[in-house]
Amino acid sequence: MSRVLNAVAWPYANGPRHIGHVSGFGVPSDVFSRYQRMAGNQVLMVSGTDEHGTPIQVQADAEGMTPRQLVDKYNRVIVDDLQGLGLSYDLFTRTTTRNHYAVVQDMFLSLHRNGYIVPKTTLAAISPSTGRTLPDRYIEGTCPICGYDGARGDQCDNCGNQLDPADLRNPRSKINGETPKFVETEHLFLDLTAFTESLGSWLAGRTDWRPNVLKFSQNLLADLKPRPITRDLDWGVPVPLDGWRDQPMKRFYVWFDACMGYLSASVEWARRSGDPDAWRQFWCDPEARGYYFMGKDNITFHTVIWPATLLGQNGAGDRGGEPGAFGTLNLPDEIVSSEFLTMSGSKFSTSRGTVIYVGNFLKQFGPDALRYFISVAGPENQDTDFTWDEFVRRTNFELANEWGNLVNRSISMAHKNVGSVPKALTPADADHELLALSRAAFDTVGGLLERNRFKQAIGEAMRVAGAANKYLSDQEPWKRKDDPDRRDTILHTALQVVSDVNTLLTPFLPHAAQQVHGALGGEGVWAAQPEVREVDEDSPDGSAPAYPVLMGDYAREAAVWASSPIEVGRPLAKPSPLFAKLDPELGETGPEWAPVVR
Ligand code: MF3
Ligand code: ZN
Repeated sequence: MSRVLNAVAWPYANGPRHIGHVSGFGVPSDVFSRYQRMAGNQVLMVSGTDEHGTPIQVQADAEGMTPRQLVDKYNRVIVDDLQGLGLSYDLFTRTTTRNHYAVVQDMFLSLHRNGYIVPKTTLAAISPSTGRTLPDRYIEGTCPICGYDGARGDQCDNCGNQLDPADLRNPRSKINGETPKFVETEHLFLDLTAFTESLGSWLAGRTDWRPNVLKFSQNLLADLKPRPITRDLDWGVPVPLDGWRDQPMKRFYVWFDACMGYLSASVEWARRSGDPDAWRQFWCDPEARGYYFMGKDNITFHTVIWPATLLGQNGAGDRGGEPGAFGTLNLPDEIVSSEFLTMSGSKFSTSRGTVIYVGNFLKQFGPDALRYFISVAGPENQDTDFTWDEFVRRTNFELANEWGNLVNRSISMAHKNVGSVPKALTPADADHELLALSRAAFDTVGGLLERNRFKQAIGEAMRVAGAANKYLSDQEPWKRKDDPDRRDTILHTALQVVSDVNTLLTPFLPHAAQQVHGALGGEGVWAAQPEVREVDEDSPDGSAPAYPVLMGDYAREAAVWASSPIEVGRPLAKPSPLFAKLDPELGETGPEWAPVVR
């Protein structure tokens, strides 16, 4: 048994999430967590909504709400969507809790004490007409690096570089087009220059990372500069230092607090599960493994800034120091990043209208069709275009025809001819071969999931389903009226393989897996699902009384990563279809809430 921390990127609570988001952080992390639990490991899967910073402020302004009202609204929407998708978080919380604020401030104070925080005077953009600070994202201009004219003050979407608003050529306010005035302001910086050695040697040991992630991170090492960790904003975690604490317009930068959410959510989970120190088993035991799941635009924060923060807290940066309030914390072991899911070639963008919301998707197609599509055809290692056409094809020809049909005909025939799981009396070579194939798949698929190769893993599982369909066509049990022993042996073999494939597909299709478990005569919870629980820790400013979290009793699920022998004589009912086939026309038109534009 080992312990596995699955740290999943925190979605911004600034709108409903679209299928691009959940294909990056959501489905991969859940498939991995479910597999790890089935393999007998102890998993802690944590995340929550990311509720601070400019992304929230901008949207709150757009919707005419306070940031607090906005995050309360979208936190609920996101929790419901992720629950509907069956993402098995041990805790999905939010960053506006008292606990999170305390963890962030403690982490910061340790970094400060150890000498990794430096103040600096910088230039802030002010709107001449209102006198208010213009956050980075409110400023637009020409990228000094690539010349793209739509670059934002925080980053250029064309070349991907992080920017400072003062770097932009021809800067202008997105709100009213005026030219911002730059004035001096003081900020706190995380002194990344003091991590060149320590980060460098840590990164040098990450030889098992994907080459592009490693290379990208090592390149950043060559040019480490102090990074600002505060902003001129009144929405965020206050800075716990004299002279800063009471300043209404100084708050921690959203990325500085959000990454610490992995730790604060672990602490909150431990408290909610009745053993307040339990988080340490996942963070302070060097044997525990930490996996981080995200879209590729989040890599820098997780391979450089978050590790540096952890090293500084641990007193293990180049300037040394003492371990802080949390002891010596583990750095990430694996970075599981995905590429972008695009629709008709453009990155998902709410403003351009090419957006498929998770909520709409779930309502019309249910969770497992989306989970299947993302697993088999998602942006695992390259940018991938979502098309309705391919979604219909995959659902109809793979999910329904291959898997659904195998389940349906195997159970129907056994139900009709025997009424229960039949005996295998005279196993023949073909039966042994098929059973050997499905047993061997546990190692193959498990090994692939271990390394986060989701496409290959689900491909291997589906290959066994394909082999079983071929076996049935070859063996023709429906033509064996005169030889019931042979017929029963074939049906027994088919049902055993249905059970095996169902186990192999459980991490990907947990809802369907529960249904197949029942159709095979099984009882109880096979694959556990997350539940929405209302909890009542109050927010730091006392304005939010209760909030929903996702948690689950995953320990009580029966699913185990092994072939389990089906029980002869167990009664079988007539099965109902696993997956509805989609109208092929949907592939051309799309649904009315996300029509195909030609
Ligand atoms: N909210 C960020 C995004 O959507 C992700 C934050 S991940 C965390 O890109 F590590 F900071 F939490
Ligand atoms: Zn650029």
